Order: sequence, then structure tokens, then C-alpha cells
Amino acid sequence: MTINSRVSIELNGRSQDMLVQPGTTLLNALRDTLNYTATKRGCDQGGCGACTVLVDGQVVLSCIIPIETINGARVETVEGLAPGSGLHPLQQAFLDGFATQCGFCTSGMMMAVKGLLDLNPAPSREDVIEAISGNVCRCTGYTSIIDAALDAAGIQSASSSKAA
Ligand code: FES
Ligand code: FES
Repeated sequence: MTINSRVSIELNGRSQDMLVQPGTTLLNALRDTLNYTATKRGCDQGGCGACTVLVDGQVVLSCIIPIETINGARVETVEGLAPGSGLHPLQQAFLDGFATQCGFCTSGMMMAVKGLLDLNPAPSREDVIEAISGNVCRCTGYTSIIDAALDAAGIQSASSSKAA
């Protein structure tokens, strides 16, 4: 007989309690138990970054985090980015900069960048490249994503200044 565990997290500022089976990952809990499906399941083995979220401010791959190990933690997903109305500056920058095509990588990219900007509000281009180095995008070629991250930080990127 499987004994479920009770786990509580603070998800985007709201307390969430759940019963989970042993070995349930944070990604599965988010998507399948709590119905927060913006965080994507790509490789499901830590290799693509689609499932990136923040746990207590740290960038993590939710597909390889057993939820039982983060009981009581503060979890941020892309659903929590926007304020009551309108878009978060990061979302606006991705929108304005055409940094999304199919969108599958976008929530993970945004959370990887948010993790960076929370710690370093004025990153260099190299800092952004490093921050998203574990996130795979099959569509954009990355330049628009890097530019959007810099735009969100209020830094005019080299490629956008060339275009201006
Ligand atoms: S789904 Fe988690 S890293 Fe690919
Ligand atoms: S926008 Fe399609 S994978 Fe990144």
C-alpha cells in the first residue's frame, strides 16, 4: 500500500496543501495536482529547462525536485509573474521583442531570467547567456530572448541599439 504524504508550499504567494505519492516531482505536483500548467514538461530529466521555476528564490528544474524535499518552501511560477492587471516587465519585454515563437520554452526562460534579475538587476549580456544556458529553445535562435531579458532590466541590448 502506498502511503501519501501531506506537503504544503507557498505557490505564488498562496498556501497550497496537497497529498502526494512518494517520489512526486515538483513539476508533477504543479501540473497534475495543482493544475498550474504554464510550467512545461519537456525532457522530464533535467536537460531542457522547460520546467524551470524558483524555489525560495533559487532557479531550479522542477522535474527533478521531489516535492517532499521542499515542504514549506516558497515556489514561484510564471503564473505568478503578472501583477493584478497588465503584464510583468519581463512578459512585456518578451512580447515586444518577439522572444516567443511556439512558446514551449517561454515560461522556463522567463523564470530563469527572473531568477537572475532578482539577484542582479543590471546583468551583462554574458550574465543573461549564462542564466539561460540550461534552457533549450528550438525556435528563436536565443538572440531575441537575451535582448528581451536585457530590455526587462532596462538595459538597451547591443542588437536593439543597432536596429534603432
Ligand atoms: S522538463 Fe525539466 S529540464 Fe526538461
Ligand atoms: S519559442 Fe519555441 S522552443 Fe522556444
